[in-house]
Amino acid sequence: MLHLAAKPHLFNIARGAADPPHSRYCLTMRVLVITGAGVSAESGIPTFRGKDGYWRNWDPAKLATPTAFQSDPNLVWEWYRERRKRIRAAQPNPAHEAIARLAAAAGEFLLVTQNVDDLHARARWEGTHLSPEKMVQIHGDIFVTRCSGCDFGRRDLREDEKEVPKCPDCGSLMRPGVVWFGEQLDLREIERVEGYLHQGPCDAVIVAGTTALFGYIVEWAVRAVGESGRLIEVNPEETPLSQFATEQIREPAGVALPGLVTSIVSDTSR
Ligand code: APR
Repeated sequence: MLHLAAKPHLFNIARGAADPPHSRYCLTMRVLVITGAGVSAESGIPTFRGKDGYWRNWDPAKLATPTAFQSDPNLVWEWYRERRKRIRAAQPNPAHEAIARLAAAAGEFLLVTQNVDDLHARARWEGTHLSPEKMVQIHGDIFVTRCSGCDFGRRDLREDEKEVPKCPDCGSLMRPGVVWFGEQLDLREIERVEGYLHQGPCDAVIVAGTTALFGYIVEWAVRAVGESGRLIEVNPEETPLSQFATEQIREPAGVALPGLVTSIVSDTSR
């Protein structure tokens, strides 16, 4: 249960300040959602550590590295080209749509996704998309191709060329715009997450479809949740985050999230 009256100052900035009592907007609600590969699993995108994660007997944890790119850029690009193709053909599922709904309903909202696909961005709720300023792709964007030698980068949504792309500016090999194992996260993206956390505690933090193996994922979730807030994990399996969750929903995200979001939205608009 959320305490609307506890944060009257938020009424002014929330879109529902003048809405009628039964508005569908969660007037004061501040929400953080963190997602991982499990949220896209029901769209047919294999998770990294699941049984379908392997590609031609290759462990993704070995392919998604600077070392693999240096030793065999063709192989790494082949893997990314196949993944891009699969993502282009995939559709957002009810989990993505529920998150878009929550984003539209909450007073303040941020999604931090580890997914490099564009399914969150493509998901709609009543015709609206999640706007880019409400989403941080903390591990990058698979459709970005960037130079390994200079600052050049571009977004490639069309069919890929069959060779390893070369930078039109400096001639170096181009690489996918994702964060590989052993690489630093983009500081600007970290700052966006930190900025949101500094603005105040969240009433609800939902962590869905991630093994939560990275310390920063657990830390952000735990830090974000306010004293009376909910920390809800949606994952069929237990993870390192589970011990901190106030609620654990052991179901697939596409099954659990639509109902969970409906209950949050109707609870807070009552
Ligand atoms: N709904 C919810 N959760 C699911 C579903 C589902 N339908 N299917 C699988 N899961 C859960 C699994 O139980 C697992 O905990 O999703 C998680 C998927 O885990 P990973 O494959 O490890 O994906 P993720 O946690 O996103 O990985 C983090 O590691 O490989 C890197 O950069 C890559 O972003 C990735 C990061």
